Amino acid sequence: MERRQFIRRVFGGAAAGLVAPGLVMASSRTSSVNTSSMAGGVYFTEAQPGRWNKKITGHLPNIQVIRNETGTVLKVVTPHEMKAHEHYIVKHIVLDHEFNFIAEQMFDPTKDKAPISEMSVGTYRGVVNVLSVCNKHDTWLNTAEV
Ligand SMILES: [Fe+2]
Repeated sequence: MERRQFIRRVFGGAAAGLVAPGLVMASSRTSSVNTSSMAGGVYFTEAQPGRWNKKITGHLPNIQVIRNETGTVLKVVTPHEMKAHEHYIVKHIVLDHEFNFIAEQMFDPTKDKAPISEMSVGTYRGVVNVLSVCNKHDTWLNTAEV
């Protein structure tokens, strides 16, 4: 299975549930993968932090939407330490409403003081799914409308 297909399967139904719960049910009936059970297990959200329920504040990506003359930029901040390779945020990833890749920013824990990224989504309009990946506490999903 290609990476993009995996991400769509894993995050597609569950993230859609954050926006439109009815879509998750429809998706679950037609998919061989029960994506609704993956939130809190495979990936984590504010509502479903799973085993990391004490880690929400430091791992949920905060999304600021900035409009400019050429389109939209997302400023993403994860309020997390960058303690060299011991504990840090590996990357931020932006996907569209269908979980197509838009942008990502990798972090170097020896150089980046904080996991803050600015990524353009161009003229895209709709829901963006933003992932923040911690090397110890896995992948966290938040969404915004742009
Ligand atoms: Fe962490």
